[in-house]
Amino acid sequence: MDDDEQGEEYLFKIVLIGDSAVGKSNLLSRFALDEFDINTKATIGVEFQTQVVEIDGKEVKAQIWDTAGQERFRAVTSAYYRGAVGALIVYDITRRITFESVKRWLGELDTHCDTTVARMLVANKCDLNNIREVSTEEGKALAEAEGLFFMETSALDSTNVQISFEIVIREIY
Ligand code: GTP
Ligand code: MG
Repeated sequence: MDDDEQGEEYLFKIVLIGDSAVGKSNLLSRFALDEFDINTKATIGVEFQTQVVEIDGKEVKAQIWDTAGQERFRAVTSAYYRGAVGALIVYDITRRITFESVKRWLGELDTHCDTTVARMLVANKCDLNNIREVSTEEGKALAEAEGLFFMETSALDSTNVQISFEIVIREIY
């Protein structure tokens, strides 16, 4: 390895998946930029952010990919998943339909990635507890049944955002 490549030793591709408007783009911007936008536009195509995380004193570079939940705005699926070693499957606790879609997203992940991909089920918008449609217990039960990590998050108030990404990165590492 020449000098240029050193420090690039650990570059992990992580993908965000889940229905439209569950908060994927805001989870990423909260994690990578500490930003939140109440009026985000639906993602078109693919975006990504690279973030350096320190794990056990070593710098680990995570390249986190974000695409559209809406089918018509999605990029080529196989390219999106190619090389991914981690995935966050996101739903919105205030819309049960997004929770019901999780199985479909897991199926897509299985089709395109092998089973060693570190997977985290993310129940987002926990700041909206007053209009919750999916209980914490239901989320946990699904995660357990599917062998996923589980975390309730809020991109709005930052709850558990950092730790969710870090758990996935640590698991890969
Ligand atoms: P697509 O790009 O269409 O797949 O959507 P997305 O999953 O990227 O959702 P996005 O991040 O664009 O968020 C959709 C809406 O939910 C925006 O209005 C956000 O401001 C809002 N939102 C995202 N995360 C949270 C959260 O944790 N709490 C609350 N209250 N709103 C959130
Ligand atoms: Mg988006």
